[in-house]
Amino acid sequence: MVVAVSVPGENGSVATASAATVPAEGVSTLTDDVVASAAACDDARLRFVFETLVRHLHAFVEEVELTSDEWLEGVRFLTATGHKCDEYRQEFMMLSDTLGVTSLVDEIAHRASTGASESSVLGPFYTENPPGVAHGESIAAPGCGVPLDVRGHVRDADGAGIAGAALDVWGTDGDGLYDSQHSEHVVDCRGRVRTTEDGSFAFKTVVPQSYSIPTDGPVGAMLQRLGRHTFRPAHLHFRITAEGFAPLTTAIYAAGDPYLASDAVFGVRTSLIEEFRHGDASGTATLERDFTLAKTGAT
Ligand SMILES: [Fe+2]
Repeated sequence: MVVAVSVPGENGSVATASAATVPAEGVSTLTDDVVASAAACDDARLRFVFETLVRHLHAFVEEVELTSDEWLEGVRFLTATGHKCDEYRQEFMMLSDTLGVTSLVDEIAHRASTGASESSVLGPFYTENPPGVAHGESIAAPGCGVPLDVRGHVRDADGAGIAGAALDVWGTDGDGLYDSQHSEHVVDCRGRVRTTEDGSFAFKTVVPQSYSIPTDGPVGAMLQRLGRHTFRPAHLHFRITAEGFAPLTTAIYAAGDPYLASDAVFGVRTSLIEEFRHGDASGTATLERDFTLAKTGAT
C-alpha cells in the first residue's frame, strides 16, 4: 500500500514525500524502504553511499541474526567510543584503524600507481602545525630516548629534489609514548622540518619504540575480548606536503621489530620497513630514507 506523507517545505509550503510502502503481511520491504527514503537527495554520491551502507548493514544484521541485546550492546559501544574522544584522544580513529578500515581506504586511494612512496595510516596522534625546527636540529627534548639522526631527500617521480617541502614528523619517546599521552601535553618528539634547495632534510629525534595502542577505552576492551594483541611495531610518522604535489602520509617501520607481521592497526607496508642503524660510538642511531611525491593530479 502506498502512503503519501506530507512534509513542510523550506518556504513553509507542504510537499508530498515519495511513496513509502506498508508491506503485505509477512513480506518485508524494510531495506528497500530505507533505501528509498533518500530518493530526494540531490547529492548523487551521498545517496549512493547511504543506499549501499544501508544494504550492507541490513545484510549484516540478517546474516548474524543480531539479537536485541547485541544491538543494544553495539549502541552502547559506539556511545562509549564517542565519549572517549577529546582533544588528545581519537577513539573512533582507533576503531577504524583496528578494523582495518583506515588501511583499506588508504589502499583504495592509492590503487593507481603515481610513483609516489607508499602511504600508511595517519594514526590518532597527529597534530596539525607542529613547531618548526631548522635543518639538522632536534625535535626531541634531551634525554627522552636513544638519540637518532634522520636524513634523506624528498624527490619528484623523476628523481629531482623538491625544495621547501614540509615534513611533519612525530614518533614515540624512549618509553613508547607520544607527547599527547603524557598528562602535561608538552610538545615533544614532534616537529616540522623543511627540505633545502636540493630536496634534502635532516633532523634529530629519539629512536621510536614499539608500543601498545591505548587500552583504557572501548577499542582496547574490544581487542581484549577478541584475543588480539594491541601492539604496533616501532615507527616514525611523516606527513609530507609540497606545493604542486599530492600530500604523502606515511611512516617508516623499524626492520626487525617483532610486531611487523601483526601490527594492531594493519599499517605496515614492506617498502616502508627500514633499518634504524645502531652502533655509532656516540650511541646515536641513524635512519636514512628518501621519499617520492607525485605531482597533484598524477595517476
Ligand atoms: Fe604511531
